[in-house]
Amino acid sequence: MSELEKKLIAGICSRSAAETEELAARIGAILPVDTVLALHGNLGAGKTTFVRGLARAWGIQESITSPTFNLYTIYKGDRQLIHLDAYRLGSGADLDALMIEDFLQPPWCFAVEWPERIPDALPEDAWRLFLTINEDLSHQIRLESL
Ligand SMILES: Nc1ncnc2c1ncn2[C@@H]1O[C@H](COP(=O)(O)OP(=O)(O)OP(=O)(O)O)[C@@H](O)[C@H]1O
Ligand SMILES: [Mg+2]
Repeated sequence: MSELEKKLIAGICSRSAAETEELAARIGAILPVDTVLALHGNLGAGKTTFVRGLARAWGIQESITSPTFNLYTIYKGDRQLIHLDAYRLGSGADLDALMIEDFLQPPWCFAVEWPERIPDALPEDAWRLFLTINEDLSHQIRLESL
């Protein structure tokens, strides 16, 4: 296990959106290919900010916004990045209908905001990050150990 992974399991504090993006870029470098990345956290915890950092790390130039209206967006870079916001999905029922699996091209990363909406759709080997806001308004990013 890498040093970064160990630190992440303990929880890393981020003091700005830029810091979160930079951390995401470092995590993107150690994230296994073809992995689902579940981003747990409340409104404004920094899930989309994190995905933006991943996109930069993989050379994706397009602007990354929360895909609330289109549910998900596919970006092509050094890795294919699929960004899903499951907020409005009901308990995984309509995930199959999105046919995301049909679009995956290795090496891919499937980043999911509001993964608790689709618990049954996430594989066992998904990486789960928990984003929270501390009392001093810094943000905390923690990796659930597999
Ligand atoms: N340390 C930090 N890490 C991430 N974002 C931060 C941090 N400090 C402040 N922010 C701000 O918090 C906001 C996070 O918004 P973001 O869209 O990333 O959240 P989200 O978790 O995707 O929310 P939603 O559930 O609404 O999609 C941004 O405005 C960002 O600038
Ligand atoms: Mg978001």
